[in-house]
Amino acid sequence: MHRSIYIETYGCQMNFADTEIVNGILREQGYEIASDVEKADAVFLNTCAIRDNAEQRIYGRLSNLEHLKKRNPHLVFGILGCMAERLRSDLLEKNSAVDIVCGPDEYRRLPALIDDAFAGEKGIRTQLSRVETYDDIVPLRTDGISAWVAVMRGCDKFCTFCVVPFTRGRERSRPRAGVLREVEQLLEGGFREVTLLGQNVNSYRDEEHDFADLLVAVAALDPTLRVRFTTSHPQDMSDRLISAIAEHGNICSYIHLPFQSGSNRILELMNRTYTREHYLELVRKIRAAIPGVALSTDVIAGFPTETEEDHRATLSLMEEVRYDGAFMFKYSPRERTRAWKMGDDVPEEVKGRRLEEIIDLQRRISYDVNAQVIGTRQSILLEGPSKRSEEEWMGRTDTNKTVIVPRGDFAVGDTIDVEITSATSATLFGRLAGARAMEAA
Ligand code: SAH
Ligand code: SF4
Ligand code: F3S
Repeated sequence: MHRSIYIETYGCQMNFADTEIVNGILREQGYEIASDVEKADAVFLNTCAIRDNAEQRIYGRLSNLEHLKKRNPHLVFGILGCMAERLRSDLLEKNSAVDIVCGPDEYRRLPALIDDAFAGEKGIRTQLSRVETYDDIVPLRTDGISAWVAVMRGCDKFCTFCVVPFTRGRERSRPRAGVLREVEQLLEGGFREVTLLGQNVNSYRDEEHDFADLLVAVAALDPTLRVRFTTSHPQDMSDRLISAIAEHGNICSYIHLPFQSGSNRILELMNRTYTREHYLELVRKIRAAIPGVALSTDVIAGFPTETEEDHRATLSLMEEVRYDGAFMFKYSPRERTRAWKMGDDVPEEVKGRRLEEIIDLQRRISYDVNAQVIGTRQSILLEGPSKRSEEEWMGRTDTNKTVIVPRGDFAVGDTIDVEITSATSATLFGRLAGARAMEAA
């Protein structure tokens, strides 16, 4: 009998992609991937450390997994990902149920760590690497339509609020050839969409090739493959990259472009390297070059020293840009970052109220933006059943909007033309438009 492992994943898409890499490594070593935590011989949490509430949620899960271990003392229990890297031996010392702590650049060591753990020895590996990209590892994917492809790792931007440079280490890119080989294999396997991933995906570089080159090369492999990418930093949003998106029909017209704050004083304290004016100029350029482009963003409320005036600058930037969507957060101080030393001086209730105002504004804008799509025709890639009902499919537009349609005779992976009939701030609803439905290859 082969041993089986189970991984539960938290945090960003990079972590989800890493879980597929870890599953790839372990499967290669003969492990089975369990679909039920109760039946696994080894259980891992792939963790996120971005904000305190992310960590608290994982601590909660950790303590309710301890009972599994009480029932089955042979169970091996490990922590992967960003909390492993941030907290290191603390995790072993403070949580007796934990056998393995393994950071994001050490996943090749996991088979050995697991062997040791089954032999009764706890282990910890948290070295960060300047070169590890797992380029040669084939990720074990479960979805057959849409794939995440990590093209770079780490981050060198050092935004002063952010723990990622400490948990993920220095920026490094995979060789272009390895990325292209992986996407070719995905195409052979029937995948219809890839999302190129990196903390700062647009600072990708492989010798003379930048991210625009990579994106164009991936898009050229098959003009019916949808190509997405995330996350872009405004500083690396080059004119060449904007042209690449504009000129290739299968590179999706959707850019996630975090702005974080609308106040120049706060942007400077955050070390974001752009001003409000630069950012707005960039948005103007993008919209002029890519008609109909959708933009989403990340915002932080209550960064140290943030005043009402700074906060209003954030709201006014959101009104000016009118994002399709946004991820909105309360500032959470992280040890080792530069902002940690600035203190956390915006009172909790002020942060909460500012965040509410940001969320309310964005909900209104998202609704207005989505309402404008009603009556238009959109081409959507069907990804699976809707959350509500097996009788409906969930698909996505080129601009990354979720559309719910009646099931009809279609299958997952089909691209179909729909007419949008209604909208909420989060979802579009549609019906089949004409008979121009196209089967997936
Ligand atoms: N590399 C990406 C994503 C980083 S994490 C980028 O630069 O956009 C995702 C988001 O979490 C960030 O964009 C930021 O808005 C938020 N975030 C990061 N650190 C945070 C902190 N300490 N408190 C609150 N939000 C934070
Ligand atoms: Fe964090 Fe900034 Fe790097 Fe994004 S760009 S991962 S926010 S340090
Ligand atoms: Fe979280 Fe690490 Fe991603 S801190 S957001 S899982 S890079």
